[in-house]
Amino acid sequence: MSFYEKRILPHVINCACGAPAVARQREKVVPEAKGRVLELGIGTGLNATYYRAADVTEVVGVDPSRESWVLAQPKIAEASVPIEYCEASAEDIPLPSDSIDTAVITYTLCTIPQPEKALQEVARVLRSDGRVLIAEHALAPDAAVIKWQNRLNGLWGKIAGGCHINRDIRGLLDASPLQVRQWQGMYLPQTPRVAGYNVWGTASLK
Ligand SMILES: C[S@@+](CC[C@H](N)C(=O)[O-])C[C@H]1O[C@@H](n2cnc3c(N)ncnc32)[C@H](O)[C@@H]1O
Repeated sequence: MSFYEKRILPHVINCACGAPAVARQREKVVPEAKGRVLELGIGTGLNATYYRAADVTEVVGVDPSRESWVLAQPKIAEASVPIEYCEASAEDIPLPSDSIDTAVITYTLCTIPQPEKALQEVARVLRSDGRVLIAEHALAPDAAVIKWQNRLNGLWGKIAGGCHINRDIRGLLDASPLQVRQWQGMYLPQTPRVAGYNVWGTASLK
């Protein structure tokens, strides 16, 4: 891992993912979490304070970046639910099958190297009545924006830790063992369109 990835990138991501417009997206999905929660790519803990103590028993945050977990500490301390860190990859989640009530996926499917495998793992650990809550930036619906997303994707990935600005998040879900139940999308205000198309919704097992 380079110096940039280890020491600087977690701060860059913490700042970009903490923007007010992104925080409003988190508010739309994270408070819906219930029971035992898996947070995929917990990063710097920006969802921690949106969990409701009355609904959530515990959160397990899977992420390979220990550096981000260090930055997450103030948010974890502020949270009203217990949050445990699991240093692992979403493609190989070290949790038993059928053990999670809610999987929270925010701004992580864009970065995971093998998102198809990660969604299979989410489906494996999810209980039959469990729900997946999703908020991501995604492939835009407009050809002119997609053109720039495709052009800038390589450079973007280098700056943003392997993040893709042109991932078809809905397509990934449709091809997974999960069924989308609710879905919305919009360009975030005060955000360049190339990185600003956001989707959010819920899914459960097919
Ligand atoms: C843009 S950050 C978002 C963090 C957090 N989900 C949020 O909403 O702020 C992407 C996160 O995905 C994590 N990540 C990268 N590869 C991963 C993988 N294979 N499995 C799980 N998380 C991964 C990164 O370490 C980083 O914390």
